[in-house]
Order: sequence, then structure tokens, then C-alpha cells
Amino acid sequence: MLRSQITGVGSYVPSRVVTNFDLEKMVDTSDEWITKRTGIKERHWAALGEAPSDMALQAANRALESAKLSKSQLDMIVYATLSPDHEFPGTGCFLQAKLDVPGIPALDIRQQCTGFLYALSIADQYIRNGMYRNILVIGTEMHSRGLDKTNRGRDVAVLFGDGAGAVVVRACEVVKPESDSYLFSTHLHADGRFAKELWVPAPGSALPDEERLSHAMLNENLHYAQMNGKRVFVSAVEKLMQVMGECMSANQVSTEKVDLFLLHQANLRINEAVAEHVKIPPEKVFNTIHKFGNTTAATIPLGMDEAIKAGVLKKGMLVMLAAFGSGFTWGSALLRF
Ligand code: COA
Repeated sequence: MLRSQITGVGSYVPSRVVTNFDLEKMVDTSDEWITKRTGIKERHWAALGEAPSDMALQAANRALESAKLSKSQLDMIVYATLSPDHEFPGTGCFLQAKLDVPGIPALDIRQQCTGFLYALSIADQYIRNGMYRNILVIGTEMHSRGLDKTNRGRDVAVLFGDGAGAVVVRACEVVKPESDSYLFSTHLHADGRFAKELWVPAPGSALPDEERLSHAMLNENLHYAQMNGKRVFVSAVEKLMQVMGECMSANQVSTEKVDLFLLHQANLRINEAVAEHVKIPPEKVFNTIHKFGNTTAATIPLGMDEAIKAGVLKKGMLVMLAAFGSGFTWGSALLRF
């Protein structure tokens, strides 16, 4: 049985730490408000001159090193982000040039907080059908450049941080399904009826102006994220529970059998509500939101790397991944690490 195995994990966050107290100096907010509503204490913001693909390169090199794989053996890059280097081409191309692996396909995925799971699922399909053997799956996000750091944008600005996380996915022949390390399944969903509950309208060719970006759009703040926080919160809890249930029934496992849950990190209260409803002991959910805020497509691989470093994620563990985000999009995956 040809399946995908995660053989390397790496991550990178910029060195600049921005605490809630730092944000108090920028907008009308407080450490108490942010901590109570979200669980976030600090996040990392990139340095001037640092590009998203620079962060991606660091994470990619660390993942390759951890996989003990030479970059020349890579067959493909799947790159998830909502904060690309530029409008086009895809940032996977910029990363590919920086990694110096010309010729291999580089595919960008624009599925926001579920981006990494979409990327992993795509890589898994290429591996299962025998087309590629080694794929770099990466999520990178540089939110700090795209936040409205005035009172108008304070509801969104306090939530997001920068970071990158990467995994190397390799084809493996599963001999003992009950103990071998491999990706069991992925489950993806979207509901575009809610696309405008969390979105960045501009630049955009669907807007009535003659240009994709105009002064009027900038004046209306359309180049910043617009979010219906309460709607997102409620849907996140509901859809995460659904897609985790779907994953467990597809694989005929119960929450007791799963050793670790790496859930997207948008709000600690979302994950606490999910854990309570699905009856997962809190110690089985590995949260990183207090340190990094929401790093969107980077969150899950960054969390995976943090969990390894903390000694929480160990070889042989049964791990569930789940995420929800703008689109709306949501998904889950189950793997033996
Ligand atoms: N600091 C202080 N006050 C703030 C604030 C900030 N950064 N941002 C908003 N407020 C104010 C609001 O203006 C509002 O004031 P009002 O009552 O005078 O109108 C008040 O705080 C309460 O806002 P409310 O929207 O009721 O808070 P909430 O409990 O819904 O929490 C979020 C807000 C954004 C933390 C929460 O809705 C959330 O996390 N939603 C999901 C967001 C998310 O996950 N996004 C990413 C998706 S992957």
C-alpha cells in the first residue's frame, strides 16, 4: 500500500517578539482584553527586508535537514499562504528559486487557515498515485505587513502573527498498517457562501472600479482583512467538531485512541470549546497561540515542530490535525507520526 509519510519537520519565526503590551502602545487595546478573549500573549513580526519566502526558506531547510533529504531529491513544492511575496507569481516559485531547485513544480494553495491541510492532501494524492516520491509541503504567513495597526483594525490586528512551518512528505510502502508511520486520510471542505465573513476585498478585479486597486479602495480600507469575528468563531467550533468526527469515523478511531490533537490556532476559546464538546482531555491538545497568535497556513506545521521540540509529539503517536478558516474552509487529517 503506497502512502505518504512525514519524514521531516521544520519551522521558523522572525526574531522580533511583539507582546500585547507592545500593541497597547499602537492601538486602543489591553493585554487583559486580548488574553481573555483569545489566549494570545505575544506573536512574532518580521523584520524589515524579510520576505515571506525568506521565512519559508528557513523552515524548508530545517525540514529537509530533519528528513535527512537532499533538496535535489525533491519532486514538488506545495506552498500554502494568504500573504504571498507578490500578487503573482505564486510564492512557491520564489521559494523554489531561493532553494535553488529549478524545474520541479511549485504549486500555491490559497485556502487560508486550512491551507496547510489542503496542501498536505494534494501532496498525498500525488504520492498515492505514484507520480512523486518527495514533496515539500509548506505554510508561511507574514501577516504583520497586512494589518491595520490603527484603532479601526484593532479587532484583527491583535490576532495574527508571522511564521513558517514545513514538512517533507515521502512515499512509503505500508507493511504494518497498525504500527507504520503514514498519513491515514485527509478530509477537506469549503462553503463559499461565507467567503465575505473573513476576507480582503482589494486588490480585486471583482470590484466596480476600473482598476484592481484604487485610492478609493485604500481610503475605504478594503486592502485590510474584514472580519465578522462572532460568525467566524461560531462556525469554527461547529465545523471543527464536524470534520474531526468525520475523520474519526472514516478511520474508526475514538478520541481516546488519538494521542495528540494539533488544531489550528485562531483563538484558545475555540479550541477549548471544541475539546469540551468532543470530550478530549485538554492535555491532548497542543496549543501554541499564546506564543505565536494565529499564523494561518503556518500554524499546523509550526505547532508540529514546537510539539516535537517540547517532547510532546513522539514517533509512533496517532495524531489528528484540524483547521478552520476563511472561505469558509475546514479540514482534518489523521496520521501515525
Ligand atoms: N481591544 C479591545 N477591545 C476590542 C478590540 C481590541 N483589540 N477589538 C474589538 N474590541 C471591542 C469591540 O469594539 C467591542 O466593543 P463594544 O462592545 O463597545 O462594541 C468589544 O471589544 C467586544 O467585541 P466582541 O466582538 O463582542 O468580542 P468577542 O468576544 O467576539 O471577541 C474576537 C472578538 C475577534 C476575539 C472573536 O470574535 C474571535 O476570536 N473570533 C474568531 C476570529 C478568528 O478566529 N479569526 C481567524 C479565523 S481562522
